[in-house]
Amino acid sequence: MSAYLVEGGVPLYGEARVHGAKNSVLPILAAAILCPGTSVIRNCPDLSDVRASMAILEHLGCGVRREGDTVEVDAGSLLHNDVPDELMREMRSSVIFLGAILARTGEAVLSMPGGCELGPRPIDLHLAAIRALGAEVREEGGGLRCSVPERGLRGCEIDLALPSVGATENAMLCACGAEGTTVINNAAREPEIADLQRFLRSIGARVRGAGSSVITVEGRQALHGGTHTVMPDRIVAATLLSAAAAAGGEVELLGTDHRHLSTVTAALMEAGCRVRSGEGRIHLRRDRPLKGVYPIHTAPYPGFPTDAQPPVMAALAGGEGTTVFVENMFESRYRHVDELCRMGARIRVEGRVAVVCGVGRLHGARLRAADLRGGAALVVAALGAEGRSEIEGLEHVDRGYHRLEDTLTALGARIRRV
Ligand code: EPZ
Repeated sequence: MSAYLVEGGVPLYGEARVHGAKNSVLPILAAAILCPGTSVIRNCPDLSDVRASMAILEHLGCGVRREGDTVEVDAGSLLHNDVPDELMREMRSSVIFLGAILARTGEAVLSMPGGCELGPRPIDLHLAAIRALGAEVREEGGGLRCSVPERGLRGCEIDLALPSVGATENAMLCACGAEGTTVINNAAREPEIADLQRFLRSIGARVRGAGSSVITVEGRQALHGGTHTVMPDRIVAATLLSAAAAAGGEVELLGTDHRHLSTVTAALMEAGCRVRSGEGRIHLRRDRPLKGVYPIHTAPYPGFPTDAQPPVMAALAGGEGTTVFVENMFESRYRHVDELCRMGARIRVEGRVAVVCGVGRLHGARLRAADLRGGAALVVAALGAEGRSEIEGLEHVDRGYHRLEDTLTALGARIRRV
C-alpha cells in the first residue's frame, strides 16, 4: 500500500483550485438513474468513492463514461435493482441508491450498510422515509428487500427525527417517484442538498426548498437526461485552509464558496490567521503561532462541519493555547488523536469532548490513517511538524481527496507518495 512521505515545516504559498464535492456527486450519480436518459455531470472528481458509485451504476445497467472531470450516465434501461454486497462494503454510503432504485424500478435490494470507521451508521431514518412513501421493507438474510406495492408510491409528509443528510437525499429521490406532493420536514440544510436539487431540476423534477428545513417534491414528473456542474468541495477547502494554518504561509483557494465555510474560517481567524473571502475565492495567511479558540461544537449545517473537525484540530494541536472540541455527530471521530499524540500533541479525550493543548510545534512520526478526514488531518499535522513523517493508509484519504499530494506540492509542500 502507498504512503505519504512529508518533510514538515515548509510554509505554503500559492493558489489551489478546489475540486468537485464528493458528498454532492454521490447522491447526484444515484439521482441519474431516476430518468430514462443520459445525464452529463461536470466537475466530477476522480475519487475512489466516485468510482465505486460508477461501478454500482454499471451493475444496474447504466452506461457510464468519464472524460476528464465529466461523467456521462446513460440510464436508458436498467437491468438490475440491487446493490451488490461487495460494493456496499466498499462504500457504505451506497445506501443513497436506495430511494432512486425504488422510484425507478419499484424494487430495491441491498445489504445492510453496517457501520464504518466512524462508528455505527444507522439507516432507520432512511427506511422510515421510504416506508412513509408507501414502500414495503423486509429484512432478508442480512439484507433489505424494499418494494413498491400495487398502488405505487404516494406523496406524504415526512418528519425526519434528525436532519440526516443521507435520509434527506433518499427521501427526495424516492419522492420523485411518488404520486402527488411530498413535504420533508426537518430536512438537512447542507449545501450538497441544494446541489442535488439543482441536478434534479435539470432532469425535470419539481423540487423546492433545499437549503431550508422544509423540502417539497411534486412526484412523477416526466424526467429526462440533465446537465449539471458539481459544487466545490467545502471539506477539501477546509482541509487546505487547515494545512496552510498548520504550515504557515499564504494561500488562495479558487472555485470555493466561502459562505459554505464560514464556521471554519471564523475559527481559523480566531486562531490568528488572516482570512479574506471574495467571490469564488478564500485567501488565508498565517504568519504568527496559532492560538487556542472558543469551544468548537460540531453540528448539522450551518453549524461547524464534523468533517472539518479533524483537520482543524490537527492545525491547532501544533499551535499554542487550548481548544475544546465537542464531536456531536459521530461516536468514533477522534481516531486521529492517538496518531497526533505520536507527533507530540497533547490531546485529552473524554467521550465526545477532546481538549487540545497546543504544544507550539509537533514533530514528525510514522502514522497510519484510520478514516478519511482523520487521514487528511495527519497530512495537515505533518506539514506543520518539525522533521519527516510517513503516513500509511492512503486508501482512506483517496476516498475524498483527488491527488492531494499534487495540490500540496503545487503550494510548495515537500510531500510525495511512495
Ligand atoms: C453525510 O453522511 C456525509 N456523507 C458525511 O461525510 C458527513 O459527515 C455527514 O453527512 C454529516 O454531515 C455523505 O454525504 C456521503 P447523517 P450521512 O445521516 O448522511 C445519525 C465524509 O467524511 N443517523 O447526516 O451518513 C447518524 O448516526 C463523510 O465525507 C441516524 O441516527 O450523515 C449521525 O449521528 C463522513 N439514523 C447523524 O444522524 C439514520 O437513518 C448525522 O448523520 C441516519 C443518520
